Amino acid sequence: MTRSQLDRLEAAHRSIADRVGAPAEIAMILGSGLGHLAEAVTDQTVIPYGEIEGFPTSTAPGHKGQLVLGTLEGRRVVMMEGRLHLYEGWSPRDIGLAVYLLARLGAKKLIVTNAAGGLNGDYAPGDVMLITDHMNFTGFNPLIGPNDEEIGLRFPDMSRAYDPELADKARAAARQANVPMHEGIYVGLAGPSLETSAERRYYRSAGGDAVGMSTVMETIAAVHAGMTVLGISAITNGATGGPEQTIDTVEDVVANAAISGTKIAAMFKTLLPGL
Ligand code: HPA
Repeated sequence: MTRSQLDRLEAAHRSIADRVGAPAEIAMILGSGLGHLAEAVTDQTVIPYGEIEGFPTSTAPGHKGQLVLGTLEGRRVVMMEGRLHLYEGWSPRDIGLAVYLLARLGAKKLIVTNAAGGLNGDYAPGDVMLITDHMNFTGFNPLIGPNDEEIGLRFPDMSRAYDPELADKARAAARQANVPMHEGIYVGLAGPSLETSAERRYYRSAGGDAVGMSTVMETIAAVHAGMTVLGISAITNGATGGPEQTIDTVEDVVANAAISGTKIAAMFKTLLPGL
């Protein structure tokens, strides 16, 4: 019998409880090329994932592997600098465990950012998209397995996975910060190979606006644990699968994530004090 998520969560929390300071209010998971947001955190406590009992360690490009706790725009935050991806071989439940730990550290709100390809032909690299909903095309789910009722329900409602109130606050913050922001549906895949052009045209026809390899496991686990979620995508490449489709490289993705990341950082600066 494998250990329950609750046992794993409690062991992970115990292993760092004396180092985490005041409870966090807001948790953030930073996507590729967006890690520099962590630099603005003051009173930093940094905890490498390797020092958290039973915690997976991140290996993706542009990702470190540490929790950063501290203050950002006057709010107590905990950031995962370096996220865990299915394509690295982490199980959906490992990814869920990380999110439960953020909740256990006090965070009631989760902000997820990611790099994503633009399925929507109106999007350009360097753009920003508010995630209004997602489609989980990974074939996985972090809640498969025994359910811990102390964490959440067996069948959590997902009809408002991305919290409408947080979305409204993000819209207002983007307006105030003069950051143009699309709104759309994020398609989550396991990766690591990119989509074929036929797949991209299919995801677009299914209603997707952006496509990426993260976020959906985290959002499901967060909703399960009773957190509200705000999701923001950095559009890093065109992914229409049409005749205009160019070749994707990780270098372009990381470079364009930095352009979107500057806009996202400006928006967060306005957003965080009002959350
Ligand atoms: N597809 C999947 N994941 C991605 C992409 C993409 O085009 N761009 C950045 N992450």
